[in-house]
Amino acid sequence: MKKCVYFLLKIWYTVSSKKFGGFMMSLKVAIASDHGGFDLKQKIVEHLKVLGVEYEDFGSHTPDAVDYPDYAFTVGTKVVDKVFDRGILICGTGVGISIAANKVKGVRCALVHDVFTAKATREHNDSNILAMGGRVVGDELAKMIVSTWLGTDFMGAHHAGRIEKITSFEANNEKM
Ligand code: RB5
Repeated sequence: MKKCVYFLLKIWYTVSSKKFGGFMMSLKVAIASDHGGFDLKQKIVEHLKVLGVEYEDFGSHTPDAVDYPDYAFTVGTKVVDKVFDRGILICGTGVGISIAANKVKGVRCALVHDVFTAKATREHNDSNILAMGGRVVGDELAKMIVSTWLGTDFMGAHHAGRIEKITSFEANNEKM
């Protein structure tokens, strides 16, 4: 009996880890940071390699001072144009780069510094870009946030109508 339970648990673990791991590994991720997020971005790039996630690093490639909106607009556009499935953006606080990313029509960028929000923002908001502050969050927590955010799917149902309201507001309220 004990052996049987162990066997079933082993099968369940193998199937579920393949399912979630497989989902994550099928995603293409665009990642970028300014100088304030440079060190953390390098760590997250290494983490994506460990996870086996396909990614492209859009810079910055040195710790020299740069302007975060440039990186936000590059990654935002790539995600909205469906060249990449998701984006990860990092600046010093995560605030500037998330504000800028959210100006790209179709981007739902979530600034996240905890694992609960990482999960909830995928399930409820279908966030397509994750922003973090390199001067705010520690490396290990940031890696957990990335794994959780990449591995969580949108719940749909009643949340879909709320996303639809945002999308239609965006489409109908352009100010020149
Ligand atoms: C750069 O010094 C810093 O302002 C930037 O990384 C970010 O924190 C802006 O929100």
